[in-house]
Amino acid sequence: MSSSSSMLQNCKRLLSISLCVIIIAVGVKVDASGAAADQFVYSGFAGANVTLDGAAVVTPSGLLELTNGTLRQKAHAIHPAPLRFRNGTPETARSFSASFVFGILCPDTDACGHGIVLFVAPGSYDLSAAFPSQYIGLVNGTTNGDAGDHLFGVELDTDQNNEFRDIDGNHVGVDVNSLESVSSATAGYYDDRGGGGAFRNLTLASGEAMRVWVDYDGEEKRIDVTMAPLRMAKPSKPLISTAYDLSSVLTDVARVGFSSATGSFNSRHYVLGWSFAMDGPAPAIDISKLPKLPRFGPKHRARLAEIVPPVATAGLILSVGAIVVLLVRRRLRYSEVQEDWEVEFGPHRFSYKDLFNATEGFKNKNLLGVGGFGRVYKGVLPGSKMEIAVKKVSHDSKQGMKEFIAEVVSIGRLQHRNLVQLLGYCRRKGELLLVYEYMSNGSLDKHLYGGSDKPILDWDQRFKIIKGIAAGLLYLHEEWEKVIIHRDIKASNVLLDNDVDGRLGDFGLARLYDHGANPHTTHVVGTIGYLAPELGRTSKATPLTDVFAFGIFVLEVTCGQRPIKQNSNGDQLLLMDWVADHWHKGSLTDTVDARLHGSYNVGEASLALKIGLLCSHPLSGARPSMRQVIKYLNGDMPLPELNPTLQSFESLALMQNEGFDSYIMSYPSSMATMTTMSNLSGKVTTT
Ligand SMILES: Nc1ncnc2c1ncn2[C@@H]1O[C@H](COP(=O)(O)OP(=O)(O)O)[C@@H](O)[C@H]1O
Ligand SMILES: *[C@@H]1O[C@H](CO)[C@@H](O)[C@H](O)[C@H]1NC(C)=O
Ligand SMILES: *[C@@H]1O[C@H](CO)[C@@H](O)[C@H](O)[C@H]1NC(C)=O
Ligand SMILES: *[C@@H]1O[C@H](CO)[C@@H](O)[C@H](O)[C@H]1NC(C)=O
Ligand SMILES: *[C@@H]1O[C@H](CO)[C@@H](O)[C@H](O)[C@H]1NC(C)=O
Repeated sequence: MSSSSSMLQNCKRLLSISLCVIIIAVGVKVDASGAAADQFVYSGFAGANVTLDGAAVVTPSGLLELTNGTLRQKAHAIHPAPLRFRNGTPETARSFSASFVFGILCPDTDACGHGIVLFVAPGSYDLSAAFPSQYIGLVNGTTNGDAGDHLFGVELDTDQNNEFRDIDGNHVGVDVNSLESVSSATAGYYDDRGGGGAFRNLTLASGEAMRVWVDYDGEEKRIDVTMAPLRMAKPSKPLISTAYDLSSVLTDVARVGFSSATGSFNSRHYVLGWSFAMDGPAPAIDISKLPKLPRFGPKHRARLAEIVPPVATAGLILSVGAIVVLLVRRRLRYSEVQEDWEVEFGPHRFSYKDLFNATEGFKNKNLLGVGGFGRVYKGVLPGSKMEIAVKKVSHDSKQGMKEFIAEVVSIGRLQHRNLVQLLGYCRRKGELLLVYEYMSNGSLDKHLYGGSDKPILDWDQRFKIIKGIAAGLLYLHEEWEKVIIHRDIKASNVLLDNDVDGRLGDFGLARLYDHGANPHTTHVVGTIGYLAPELGRTSKATPLTDVFAFGIFVLEVTCGQRPIKQNSNGDQLLLMDWVADHWHKGSLTDTVDARLHGSYNVGEASLALKIGLLCSHPLSGARPSMRQVIKYLNGDMPLPELNPTLQSFESLALMQNEGFDSYIMSYPSSMATMTTMSNLSGKVTTT
């Protein structure tokens, strides 16, 4: 304990309260006078001159509370006086240092969101247009990544977001104009004690106060971020040290502040103290003066248990309080949204509590994967012990929800051995949970591109998968009471069951984004590389646009290559053009996956390749129906005459005419499986 804090303790014990008040008041006065220059320090925020907006408040105890546990909140706390961040000729960014003490409380550390950012932004930057959730109240879908933002930030991020390529759900990142960090690290510090410098991790949302130092060196053009538990001195090795010149990022005069937001998780974000200085180290925060963080969650109960026995009467009151806290927590934890019109869909609705328990509270160890629509968790239903996969889809819009749920229910009635059975759903605020049968062998793309740990599927398995998916798609198109268009057929939407049979997943989901969208704006739902050329013109999904995507899928499975590949010069090439080219040269089977080492049925493989080309014909009129495809695959009908030359050259020309060139050709092949989707979901839209 530092001498000043022990002095304060003694003071509390020995002297009259009034004397202590005088000492504290003097401390505050010294702090406040610092703010006049290019530096300030707040050891607690009682009476601090900080501009607040959104959910931010200063509590009576002097805590800066950015969010209070309400979902989808955002908050800002900004130092009121703009500071000069650049000087000299040519103008370069000055050195500056900030330090702060924060605490994040979250009842369930596996489901926290979203974090706190210490930022520097020009006075003209419009924070009111920023979004909560993963945007942390700092940017929106348009401003994220815009060099015109002149934004610098250090994020404490408690949720892993794929969109920003977050490394994990507990990290610190350096952000320049974008929440996709230029550098990031799992939260923690390098421990100086014992001389080892060993890395020790910290849990941002532990409910414990922790300290962060942000230092920019204007001469060396380096950003250091260091963190440590509250009572530890600043570690000598920073957590992040990254070379970056902020001269072109920062404006001459800018504001410094905090931004924070919640999304669909119940989290509270607090700042206890904050200091800042230009051209020098940030003034020391007096830890002894910091307000206390509130407590809740398991730690709260543990502490209560220690206190209860000695103080019997107080104990009784506290335990009643604890029970109330637990009940409230339970309600918050399991709260869901149910509306009158949903009653009719009763049987298909799961309780959130069951899904929560089934997935052990959506623990990361149960995470199966993260797709464009959201995270997918493995679970075991408490009663039946049935294995399930729960997909968490965040939805911001109420619009179209009724139609969509109706559709989910009708989709639940679809049953086919080549479809992933949808078992039901659950709705919470801002979130929809879809419950599927669990597929033990995961998605096909992992087997095709998974690297060395997955055995390569042999040809018989591949051909069986192709036939199975054709059957599943035929069922959707023609064998159900109405035509269902899948809209997003691709290897990652094909799951493999126990028998390594292919099952089509995600059907109907794409429609959610159609219902929610403005009917006057056209947008394409699907995945780059699988989009039929006419979609660029009409945006209207039809069974034949599904057939196109199926064709690409067949080529993908047979060739073991992604729809947009890279040739030897590093140029991008459509897989179908490459196959068509080989066919034209009479070397069609050269395109079959080399990892099969020639052990495949030549007749079946070349049939598959030709069917793939026929289905992905640029002219929709030339594509077969799924019924015909099945006949070709089974050898019940001969393939029609095809002209390889025409196909190859036509596809590119057609696509370019349809306005597809700008993105097909500009996407790196690694992004080829990225799904394009409407703004509603945070996926990319192609308009
Ligand atoms: N029913 C399921 N059974 C097992 N794993 C699944 C299931 N559904 C999805 N997954 C896993 O979760 C990942 C993400 O799923 P998904 O949201 O469908 O991704 P995408 O939107 O990219 O197709 C899949 O790649 C797969 O590994
Ligand atoms: C949290 O803050 C919001 C305003 O941002 C307010 O409406 C709500 O009542 C607060 N909730 C609690 C529990 O204090
Ligand atoms: C807060 O700071 C601003 C800017 O420095 C100043 O104009 C204002 O008077 C201050 N308010 C108080 C109450 O000190
Ligand atoms: C994002 O904010 C900017 C202003 O800062 C605004 O012009 C733009 O429309 C916003 N984008 C969205 C998607 O709301
Ligand atoms: C932190 O480290 C401990 C042990 O070193 C480990 O058990 C724990 O899972 C780690 N936590 C995180 C968030 O990585």
